[in-house]
Amino acid sequence: MTSGRLPRPVYLDMDPGHDDALALLAALRAVTVRGVTTVAGNQRGELTFLNARRVLRVAGRTEVAVRRGYDQPLLRRLVTAEQVHGASGLDGYHFQPEPEPSPDDGMGAMEWLDHRLAAEPDPVDWVATGPLTNVAAFLLGHPHRKRQLKQITFMGGSLGAGNVTPYAEFNTYVDPEATALVLSSGLPVAMVGLDVTLKALLAHGDIDRFLRLPGEVGAMLFGLFRFFGGHEPSANAGGMPVHDVLAVAAVAHPEFFRWQDVPLRVECRDPERRGAMTRVEGFPVTRVAVEVDVKAFFDWLWRTLEG
Ligand code: BDR
Ligand code: CA
Repeated sequence: MTSGRLPRPVYLDMDPGHDDALALLAALRAVTVRGVTTVAGNQRGELTFLNARRVLRVAGRTEVAVRRGYDQPLLRRLVTAEQVHGASGLDGYHFQPEPEPSPDDGMGAMEWLDHRLAAEPDPVDWVATGPLTNVAAFLLGHPHRKRQLKQITFMGGSLGAGNVTPYAEFNTYVDPEATALVLSSGLPVAMVGLDVTLKALLAHGDIDRFLRLPGEVGAMLFGLFRFFGGHEPSANAGGMPVHDVLAVAAVAHPEFFRWQDVPLRVECRDPERRGAMTRVEGFPVTRVAVEVDVKAFFDWLWRTLEG
């Protein structure tokens, strides 16, 4: 908790993933995490589901509910980022003991979210840091719950070049149809894409700082990011991106960013430009993070983790 105020309630949708794991840890301390749904992306669905629970076990927060969402994009075959996140999706740390199996209440992730949102007294934030499959499917299947959502903030996309192809960022590449559906949902949507995440790089030397964090969290983050630094394609001498953490920061501290309203079209037809985003007048307007105060972001991140 960062202040005397009750931090804002947030649902997370993620595909852990190294940067998702760090985003989850930051969120646990910066906002009120009401629950987590997982999606296939960085790895297969069974692994991202396991990884979210592994991180919560290490953080001592197993009371946070996790539900497994979609194992495949809406219309396409899954593409993973195994080359970046490893065979487990979270290579670099040996998780032991494994988390307890989740209690089975017979509810799938969509039904569970429906119930949870129905019980929310006020509209909540939804932060998505994987392909937008779950978010799109939920909005399609439960349009009456839109009124319970204040804003959807997602890590994904790019106004410029991509990272998985010259045109597209990974999350929008994996499920472009889901991205297009979310952007046209009519809800306020904030996009935290490569335009800012490639500006806020974690210095390789700062990985040692994770070791100062108490308990197993420090050892876990150290191991994970030592691995990630060697595999994330955008990592360079200047450091490595921590993409998903910026989406959490954008909810906790939108003032760290400069925002622009941009009418965005997502490429769903041309196979070469799949997932690319272009500014096209008349398309739904998305609030896009175009600049970030890098120092304010990292000061916040360390304060949040160390506090
Ligand atoms: C995004 O792709 C994934 O590999 C990361 O977790 C992040 O969400 C960056 O393009
Ligand atoms: Ca992710």
